[in-house]
Amino acid sequence: MPFKKKAPEEPDFQNLPRHVAIIMDGNGRWAKAHGLPRKAGHAAGAETFRTIATYCKDIGLEYLTVYAFSTENWKRPADEVQAIMDLLKKYLREAIEKMERDRIKMRLFGDLSVLDEELLALCRETEEISERYEGFQVNICLNYGGRDEILHACKSFAEDCLSGKAVPSELTESGFSDYLYSAGVPDPDLIIRPSGELRLSNFLLWQSAYSELYFTDVLWPDFSKEELCRAIAAYQHRSRRYGGV
Ligand code: IPE
Ligand code: IPE
Ligand code: MG
Repeated sequence: MPFKKKAPEEPDFQNLPRHVAIIMDGNGRWAKAHGLPRKAGHAAGAETFRTIATYCKDIGLEYLTVYAFSTENWKRPADEVQAIMDLLKKYLREAIEKMERDRIKMRLFGDLSVLDEELLALCRETEEISERYEGFQVNICLNYGGRDEILHACKSFAEDCLSGKAVPSELTESGFSDYLYSAGVPDPDLIIRPSGELRLSNFLLWQSAYSELYFTDVLWPDFSKEELCRAIAAYQHRSRRYGGV
């Protein structure tokens, strides 16, 4: 067992948050600092994702949600966008091959309709295979925006009202959550943003209402298991009151 010795910043592994979400930011600055093109930063960040996702599963987290590409990231130069899409294809192909062995369930959150055919097919296949499994779940936010998600949910709900499947006055908060891309997934307990930026950048706007936030200056490609442990340990010292006393 790798967690026997208890260092000061080591979390209580018996009492972990159920759901951790991460804004994987800082790839470009990491690349710049190493004199490399931005896409090399994204490649390094993708490796970090693999390491962190595996570790989350090993320590027994239930859900990990990562922000991979936002609805605003299309503003970037076409070659950078293409490099990110190519990396997503590579990692999804790998996930499809290894899912059965690794028992990792994956879901994609976001508007996938605009993705190229190949990437869309990989997303669909990943989700189809995942449906067969129970256990640790990774949610990848791809062409994801919190506002887009809420708008999409409103449109679906309105359609259901028009077809008589739903009634506006009966809508509850939890009923609305079922229209979100994240339907069925509990809200994140902890949201981590590396790279020193202190904002959500359109990430999980509905779901983050009572999430604990953790910011660190470390750039995502340098983010480590130790850094994750530090974030979880900090989370475990918070007092979550949800508006009570
Ligand atoms: C996060 O890293 C990856 C994506 C947004 C796709 P960035 O590319 O935003 O890295 P910085 O913020 O420019 O350093
Ligand atoms: C948020 O990072 C999106 C992802 C990490 C995928 P950005 O780098 O796009 O956010 P801003 O532009 O700093 O707000
Ligand atoms: Mg950034």
